[in-house]
Amino acid sequence: MGTAGHEEVLQGVRRPLVAGNWKMNLDHLEAVRVVSEVGLRLHGEDMGSVEASVHPPFTDIRSVQTTLEDRTIPVALGAQDCHQEDRGAFTGEVSAPMLARLGVRYVIVGHSERRRYQGETDELVGLKLRAVLRHGMMPILCVGETAAQRDAGATSEVISSQLKSALDGLSGQHVARVVIAYEPLWAIGSGTPAGSEDAQAVARHIRQIACAQAPDGTECAGALRVLYGGSVTAGNVGDLLSQPDVDGVLVGGASLEPASFAEIILGASRVVG
Ligand code: 13P
Repeated sequence: MGTAGHEEVLQGVRRPLVAGNWKMNLDHLEAVRVVSEVGLRLHGEDMGSVEASVHPPFTDIRSVQTTLEDRTIPVALGAQDCHQEDRGAFTGEVSAPMLARLGVRYVIVGHSERRRYQGETDELVGLKLRAVLRHGMMPILCVGETAAQRDAGATSEVISSQLKSALDGLSGQHVARVVIAYEPLWAIGSGTPAGSEDAQAVARHIRQIACAQAPDGTECAGALRVLYGGSVTAGNVGDLLSQPDVDGVLVGGASLEPASFAEIILGASRVVG
């Protein structure tokens, strides 16, 4: 498997990540405008140790890549999904090596919308995650419970099972290169985020479970980044990121507006430095 992200693992440093998932919004012309404006708003500002990424639709990625590079905008390129195979007769699909060639650094896998609308299983999510690692990129693995599962007190159990099937058999070093996003389904697009203490409790659980099987478990737990996602705004990012086990945020709606996305990135940097 590839080596991108190795430096984070070696140093055991959890660099905070603010990732913007655009979902099926913004065509490539709108995308160029949005990232250019994010760049203007970040220009001359101190982002501290915070890393930011955008995850546009596939049709935008090349345009966003050249805009970020040409204007030296301090935002990493991401994608929202990829196929588990490297090439072949899979009409309509996009492979991990294609994304790697475009300079993509992070690929979201297992977003709840893909699990729900495309029927993605834990097993398929695990294969996609391995494809991303194999090509030197870093997966952002999404896990989270529904409102009914939360009300039944099953949150820990649901998340443990999603993690175990996606990460089964990976070494601690590989697990530490996975970014895990806790996205409770009831918080996505609802305007009601999880409370920061609840997000912290689940993030800690994720860190323990994800690294439990690794022989180098302690090192893995020290390096693994856990994000929270679901109705994140500039108003709540500070509270979320002051929690010790929350290493960043995965932002949907608020990442589509340059002003709010830049404000979330800068808000994060004020908390974590
Ligand atoms: P919102 O920030 O719009 O709630 O979306 C969260 C999400 O699903 C990010 O992947």
